[in-house]
Amino acid sequence: MSLSRFDFPPGFVFGAATAAYQIEGSAFGGCGPSHWDTFAATPGNVVRAEDGARACDHYHQWPADLDLLKQANMDGYRFSTSWPRVMPDGINVNPEGLDFYDRLVDGMLERGLKPFQTLYHWDMPSALADLGGWTNRDTCHRFADFAETITRTLGDRVASIATINEPWCVAWLSHFMGIHAPGLRDIRAAARAMHHILLAHGLAVERLRGMGQPNLGIVLNFDHASPATNSPEDQAASDLWDGIFNRWFIEGITKQAYPANVLQGLAPHMPQNWQDDMATIGQPLDWLGVNYYTRHLHAHAPGTPWPSLRDVPGDRPKTQMGWEIYPEGLHHFLTRLSKDYVGDLPIYVTENGMANADQLADGVVTDQIREDFLFAHLAATKQAIADGANVKGFFYWSLLDNYEWAEGYEKRFGLVHVDFDTLVRTPKSSYHALARALARNE
Ligand code: NOJ
Repeated sequence: MSLSRFDFPPGFVFGAATAAYQIEGSAFGGCGPSHWDTFAATPGNVVRAEDGARACDHYHQWPADLDLLKQANMDGYRFSTSWPRVMPDGINVNPEGLDFYDRLVDGMLERGLKPFQTLYHWDMPSALADLGGWTNRDTCHRFADFAETITRTLGDRVASIATINEPWCVAWLSHFMGIHAPGLRDIRAAARAMHHILLAHGLAVERLRGMGQPNLGIVLNFDHASPATNSPEDQAASDLWDGIFNRWFIEGITKQAYPANVLQGLAPHMPQNWQDDMATIGQPLDWLGVNYYTRHLHAHAPGTPWPSLRDVPGDRPKTQMGWEIYPEGLHHFLTRLSKDYVGDLPIYVTENGMANADQLADGVVTDQIREDFLFAHLAATKQAIADGANVKGFFYWSLLDNYEWAEGYEKRFGLVHVDFDTLVRTPKSSYHALARALARNE
């Protein structure tokens, strides 16, 4: 595919994304324990019970990692600042943690990379998780405190701040499906987390706006919902999935209301007087982040409790995660979000990528499939811009192979291969293809 940066509007930001727990090494620099450490230490939760204690050792190797971004001709870097690194017990500040992010952000600026910061990319201080985590309303206020603390250090230099990464994963995947920390399968906990994670976002935005901080947004993930057949029952099942995964969050924020088909199941379990929080949740944003990976097909599952859904495998080629490759879905969301929800508000594709069983042979990794995936999704983005979506940037997930949560280190998403024994980084062929596409002297 022959796309280059010149196929996109001037000023379009190309970058790659990572998250603290997945790359830094939580054992270093006075970082406190998080609920991911606990979750990983409980047998059966994570492949081989792997955790983020060392991860990619980015805590020590960050200068070389920033060089990799720069050498690929990227314009920006999406990273997260770990809550337990900055506030190990959820209350007191770890100066070493603040220093680390201070140096990291300066390192980006020295290399001409725009820092796109995320505040919550899933590592919660254990001390707060012990008090109920996202099921406890008080956590939302603690999060606003963290937002203020880290912004006092970095706020003068970051290009933008996202409050929360992927609230659906934080709430539903982690409290209803039990797949991520804290690993609950509890509808009441899920309903509370679904609401509190958005309240935390709203309180943090309020706090940071009060400090005069510009460029505030949130990163939502979107999953293309398709019915398994065209029966009305399967259509309703797919609409419910769209409600739980997509509409709950974007409509909570842009319409200050939750979708009726989801409330039908969750209303009895919601925290008292949740309606009073909707104005805080729905205050204006400066930009919206879109993470997009795949689609899911659903059928109605009669005789099972709400939400009575059954996942049906689709017929497209799948990635190492088993996710269907469906670039049309990215075009769908970028245009749908502009038309139905955010109008001209700037949208960033804050994550898109694929896992592949990449092999290092003679010092080389050839991942043509990732190159094809990436360029197909860039083409979908370009088309969405032509169709009127105000998309301002695209971040590939991820710069490095890293800790893929419950999948441990087995699933490789990186443009750069990491040998998890030696920690040697080897740029893959997809990295070189992207670097060529982003070169400015063509
Ligand atoms: C979304 C998450 O933000 C990121 O942490 C994760 O590794 C990727 N998707 C891939 O699953």
